[in-house]
Amino acid sequence: MKILSIVGARPNFMKIAPIAKAFRADRDVEHVIVHTGQHYDEKMSESFFHQLGIPRPAINLEVGSGSHAAQTAEIMRRFEPVCLKHKPDAVLVVGDVNSTLACAVVAKKLWVPVVHVEAGLRSFDRRMPEEINRIVTDSICDVFFTTSPEAETYLRAEGVPRGRIFYAGNVMIDTLMENTARARASEITGKLGVAKGEYALVTLHRPSNVDTKEALSGIMRALQAIQKKIPVVFPAHPRAMKNIRRFIPKRDLASLKNIRFVEPLGYLDFLNLTMNARFVLTDSGGIQEETTVLGVPCLTARENTERPITITEGTNILVGTSARRIVAEAEKILKGRAKTGKRPKYWDGKASGRILKILKRLHQRGKLERCA
Ligand code: UD1
Repeated sequence: MKILSIVGARPNFMKIAPIAKAFRADRDVEHVIVHTGQHYDEKMSESFFHQLGIPRPAINLEVGSGSHAAQTAEIMRRFEPVCLKHKPDAVLVVGDVNSTLACAVVAKKLWVPVVHVEAGLRSFDRRMPEEINRIVTDSICDVFFTTSPEAETYLRAEGVPRGRIFYAGNVMIDTLMENTARARASEITGKLGVAKGEYALVTLHRPSNVDTKEALSGIMRALQAIQKKIPVVFPAHPRAMKNIRRFIPKRDLASLKNIRFVEPLGYLDFLNLTMNARFVLTDSGGIQEETTVLGVPCLTARENTERPITITEGTNILVGTSARRIVAEAEKILKGRAKTGKRPKYWDGKASGRILKILKRLHQRGKLERCA
């Protein structure tokens, strides 16, 4: 069985790592990794390949940055000849980034079956680029691997036959569990001069939060108040840092003395910071899941989430971008009233093994493609 897997942006790398490991260990699988080059920095891309032991991609499409249309079009243009040359039995895409959508469309038009890992997530917010990517990808996919039960409900409502949906668990948690011991050994807290359990960790990158002055200022006002009570570590995504410099006056920035702005971190350092944080404030999808598994309180700076299980079962709370709401929830945590939670079913480190087994079974029966 020849599978061509797509990675493009940072959150894809930790999802493909355990899949690549499972595929490599199986003699019946030929696995070819294609990197679209959507993320290209050492810090946004390269370091994950080293740290997580992901095999070098056989192909790098080197598309780089651009508007959504330009980036998506360029990925499609460059991926088509690769797909034609390799003639895989299936193309496997993960998550919801532009690379996911672009490669799914290309493969499907070449009649190559498409497998989506992390299918069926819905925020029901169509102003979010990732939501469009999720809906379009799932509308043409053949095999759907889900991370939570409600994903199956949404996919069924969109007409996906039950027999095509498999609750495999969460591959991102496979990576987390595989790397917990190594992450514990990281010395990042010492390097940043913060004590374990006594700092807040912040990440922001969603266009809706960092591309407008209004939203970004609300969150920064909250951070202004929070850093007076507890040190804040903020590994800033390039998009966030660019806009913080653009929208926040220099004088205000200089007054944030208890915030450590650092560049995007590698996986192990970041996981260490997450597991040792008093709480996390984020707008990332994956971090909502990681904090749930680690039992670390998570405040999500969004009005909705495509990962509601992190709220119903985990440690996550939606706080939006209003400074008042963010600070109020942070204060509850600092006063010892943090939300607790439990680990969702199948977030157990074995998701990629389940995915491999199911794909092999479908392939042997000639059923990788959805015929309906
Ligand atoms: C992308 C994904 C998002 C994911 C996020 C994680 C889409 C629609 N969005 O958003 O789902 O959560 O990645 O990071 O696919 N840049 C660099 N270096 C890089 C990569 C990007 O400086 O290695 C800069 C770009 O020049 C651009 C900005 O970061 O200005 C945004 O990059 P882009 O790939 O467009 O989207 P993200 O916001 O990273």
